[in-house]
Amino acid sequence: MGVIFLDNAATTPLEPRVKEEMIRMMENFGNPSSTHISGRGAKVEVEVVRKRIAQTIGAQPSEIFFTSGGTEADNMALFCSVRDLGVKRIITTTIEHHAVGHPVEFMVERGEVEAAYLSVNEHGDIDLNELEALLKQGPKTLVSLMFANNEIGNLNPVDEIGALCQKYDALFHSDTVQAMGHLPINVSETPYDFLTCSAHKIHGPKGIGFAYVRSGLKIKPLIQGGAQERNMRAGTENTIGICALGKAFEIATAEMAEDQKKVEGLKQHIIDEVQAIVPGVRFFGRSSELDKSLYTVLSIAFPKSNNDMLTFSLDMKGINVSGGSACTSGSNQGSHVIRALGDWTSEYQPVRVSFSKFNTKECAEGFLNAVREIYAVEKEA
Ligand SMILES: Cc1ncc(COP(=O)(O)O)c(C=O)c1O
Repeated sequence: MGVIFLDNAATTPLEPRVKEEMIRMMENFGNPSSTHISGRGAKVEVEVVRKRIAQTIGAQPSEIFFTSGGTEADNMALFCSVRDLGVKRIITTTIEHHAVGHPVEFMVERGEVEAAYLSVNEHGDIDLNELEALLKQGPKTLVSLMFANNEIGNLNPVDEIGALCQKYDALFHSDTVQAMGHLPINVSETPYDFLTCSAHKIHGPKGIGFAYVRSGLKIKPLIQGGAQERNMRAGTENTIGICALGKAFEIATAEMAEDQKKVEGLKQHIIDEVQAIVPGVRFFGRSSELDKSLYTVLSIAFPKSNNDMLTFSLDMKGINVSGGSACTSGSNQGSHVIRALGDWTSEYQPVRVSFSKFNTKECAEGFLNAVREIYAVEKEA
């Protein structure tokens, strides 16, 4: 067997049906802003995708804005809320993705907004009472809390958070990059103001995603220089990417239940087996609790031992996993998410195993066999 790819929270392989859609759109090279027939054809393609995505999440097409991916969509929600909507405080956590954390820190440093960080316990849970106490007082607020954590898989109680935001007249942004296409999301059921999506997390290409912005929120464009996206996001549309995103989202939504069942089986198998192989192994966050975590993410806490290069050893055996998120794996500081769970984490090495529908039982066995081999060598040493 070649490489076993179990790092799907970093990115996912392209789905063949999405690739076909991309090839189809390569022929349709028109610029959607052109008024002639080539341009109009491309425009129709883009608008069809916008409408379908909107329908799927219970939104209006005018509330969907195509972006270069999740990072831009998160930046748009955060920067525009502060710049255009009078937001003076952002309530968030220290375990958000850097696409949220860094813009918040940037605006705080510039004195543009204040940030209140909710505490997280050793499992990565937030406390809704703490959120409510904060919301009861203070200036105009944006609450930015992700739906599913990309490193530990924790699911936040978005319905309750949305209800609290509504009650206290705060805006609600949820980074839904890991959840969109994996879990049902509907803006008519949960009062979101901003949502984000990235195609490459759901078997689409990199560099394309969308932001949902609730109608009535009068924000100005983050990227300026053209009238595209109804004056809200300048730049010639990535028509191939948009159609690929549409196809990826359509497939992910239609096949969600079946994919979830399959992936949950693999995840549970690894949870059970890894505990039998490695004494003292734990799991970070809620990732080993199927009802409290995103089914695609399992964050294993291996007791620190002689082998402190577990992800490297696994890579040598053809197993692609991650030590944290893809964005932090190059830094030697470790993961800000794992550190936030408390001092106990320093005794463990994180290995994030993240699944996709393309993973099979053989992939799970391949991972477990590699762990068995690594631990057998250690026992002898
Ligand atoms: C939770 C979360 N938010 C945002 C992003 C950024 O998305 P993109 O890679 O499309 O910029 C990621 C990607 O890793 C993510 O996992």
